[in-house]
Amino acid sequence: MASDTTITSDSTLTRRGMLVKIGIFFNGLVAAAIAVPIGRYLLSSVTRGRAGGYLSWVPLGPVAQFPEGETRLATFRNPFVMPTDGKTVDTACWVRRVAGEKFQVFAVNCAHLGCPVRWFQQSGLFMCPCHGGAYYRDGGRASGPPERGLFEYPSKVENGVLTIQAGELPTPGPTASLTTGKPSCA
Ligand code: FES
Repeated sequence: MASDTTITSDSTLTRRGMLVKIGIFFNGLVAAAIAVPIGRYLLSSVTRGRAGGYLSWVPLGPVAQFPEGETRLATFRNPFVMPTDGKTVDTACWVRRVAGEKFQVFAVNCAHLGCPVRWFQQSGLFMCPCHGGAYYRDGGRASGPPERGLFEYPSKVENGVLTIQAGELPTPGPTASLTTGKPSCA
C-alpha cells in the first residue's frame, strides 16, 4: 500500500513539473512576441539613421515648373520607405516660389492634428478643413487651433532642380520645431 502511494505521489509531481515547464515555455513565447515589436520601436531611431533615408535630399522637379510668386502642390517619394508602404510613400507638399531661386516648401499636414491643408490663391491663405486652422502664405500661423506655423522642409536648387530634405514627416511639438529651426509657436 505504502509503495502504491509513493508511485502516485511521484507521478503527480512529475506531471506537475511537466505542466510547469510547458507553462514557462509558453510564457516565454508570449514574452518574446511582445518584446520584439517593443525592441524594434525603441531601436527605430537608430536603425532609421543607418538606413540613410532620413534627412536625405529628394528632387521635386525643375524650377521652371514653379512660377514665381505662386504656390503649387507637388509630390515626392519619401526616402524613408519600408517594403510594405506602397503608395503611401508618395508625399504631397506645398511649394511657394518666393522669387528667383528662393523657395519655401511646406508639409501638407496641418500643424494641429495633421489634416491636409489647402491653398487658396485669392485669400492668400492655407486653410485646414478639420478645425478651421489658417496659415499665411509664408506658412506662419494666422488663426485657429494650430499652435505654430506649417512645417517647412529645407530646400535648395541644384542644377535647375528644386530639391528638399525630406524623410520622416515632422510631428507637432518642440522636437519638430528643432528640425526646422523655428520656435514651436510661429
Ligand atoms: S487639424 Fe488643422 S486645425 Fe485641427
